[in-house]
Amino acid sequence: MTDVFISGTGVFTPPHVITNDELVASYNAYVGLHNEENAQAIAAGNVVEKLPSTSEFIFAASGIEQRYVMEKDGILDPRRMCPRLPPRSDDEPSIMAQMGCSAANDALARAGISASDVDLIIVAASNMERAYPAMAVEIQQILGAGGFAFDMNVACSSATFGIQAAADMIRGGSATRALVISPELPSGHLEWRDRDCHFIFGDVATAVLLESGDVAETAQFKVVSSACATKFSNNIRNNNGFLRRAHDQMDDRRDMQFVQNGRKVFKEVLPLVSKHIADHLKRDGVVPEDLARLWLHQANKTMNDYIGKKVLGREPQHGEQPNILQDYANTSSAGSIIAFSKHSSDLERGARGLICSFGAGYSVGSILVERV
Ligand code: COA
Repeated sequence: MTDVFISGTGVFTPPHVITNDELVASYNAYVGLHNEENAQAIAAGNVVEKLPSTSEFIFAASGIEQRYVMEKDGILDPRRMCPRLPPRSDDEPSIMAQMGCSAANDALARAGISASDVDLIIVAASNMERAYPAMAVEIQQILGAGGFAFDMNVACSSATFGIQAAADMIRGGSATRALVISPELPSGHLEWRDRDCHFIFGDVATAVLLESGDVAETAQFKVVSSACATKFSNNIRNNNGFLRRAHDQMDDRRDMQFVQNGRKVFKEVLPLVSKHIADHLKRDGVVPEDLARLWLHQANKTMNDYIGKKVLGREPQHGEQPNILQDYANTSSAGSIIAFSKHSSDLERGARGLICSFGAGYSVGSILVERV
C-alpha cells in the first residue's frame, strides 16, 4: 500500500477583524436596547433582563482576543447582530466556495501542484451554506480539478476526519491527489445576541493537499496514522434543518443557531480527547517523548493547556503546542489546521507531531504526522 504525504497547506484569512472590546461594546448596546424595549415585561417577570458582557471575562474564559469575519458591520449593528451577506445568484461562486478556493490555491501554490492534477476534493466543514449541489463539486469546477468531489460534516472534527477519509482513499487506490478543504463561516450560525457564546467563533478557510507516495515530489509531512471516534451528545447542537417548514418552525428560535452547554462540554470532552490521543499513540507504539508538537483544536486555551499536559505528562514548553485562537477565535474544524499550517515548517526531518480536533457529535480525530 502506498504512503500518503501532506505536500501543502493553505489558509484564507477573512478581511475584517473584530476585537473583544468592539464585540463587547456592540453587545452591550444591544443589551441596553433590549432591556429598554422590554422594561415592562422585565419588571413583570415575563422577560429575563439581559446582562452585559466583558472583554475581561472573554479573555479569561477562552484566551480569545479577536476574531476574523467575512462581514463586520451587520454583526456589530446592535439592531441586527448578524453578518450582512447578500444572496448570490446561482451563476455566481458561492461565498464558502470562494473562501475554500482561496485556501486551496494557497496549498497548491505551496506544493507547486496544478489543480488539474487533483482528483479528489473533500469539503469538510461544520455547516454547508446550502443542501446541494455539494460545495466540493462547485470548488472542483472553479479550480479545474478532475476526479470526484463530495462534502462531509463532522462539526469541529471535519478536517481531521476528512484527512483520514482522503488518506484511506489514496491508500485504497481511488484517488492520487486530494484536497481537504474546510471553509468555516460560523459568523452565520453563531448567536451574537447570547453573551454565553457571542465571543466564541471566527471565520476562516483552510486546505490540506494530500498525495500518494507514487507522485509526491514536494512532500512536507508523511501521514503516519489516524484515529477517529464519535460518541453522541446533545451538548453542542444546532436544530436548523430542512424540516423547519414541515415543523411550522420558521420563527427566529434560539436553537436555530449554535447552542452549547459549555461547562459540560469542557468536562466531558477533556477526558474523551486525552484518552483518545493516549490510545492512538499506544496503538502505534509512540511514546509522548516522540512528539515534537501538538496542533490541537482551537476552542479554549485552558482546555488545550490541560490536554497538552495530560498527553505529554508535563507542562508543554513554549512552542510545543502552538495556539492561534487568540487571533482567530474558535474556527471550528479549521483551527488545528491553521495551527499546523503556521507552526510546522521549522520541524526537523523525522520529527513527529499530532494534529487533533474535537467538538460536536461528540467527535474527535487525530492525525500522526512525520516531517520528511
Ligand atoms: N461576560 C461576562 N460574564 C459572562 C459572560 C460574558 N460574555 N458569559 C458568561 N458569563 C458569566 C456567567 O453568567 C457565569 O456567571 P455566574 O457564575 O454568576 O453564573 C460565569 O460568567 C461563568 O460562566 P460559564 O458559562 O460557566 O463560563 P466558563 O468558564 O465555562 O466559560 C466557555 C465558558 C464557553 C468559554 C467554556 O465553557 C468553554 O470553552 N467550553 C468548551 C467550549 C468548546 O470547546 N466548545 C466546542 C465548540 S465547537
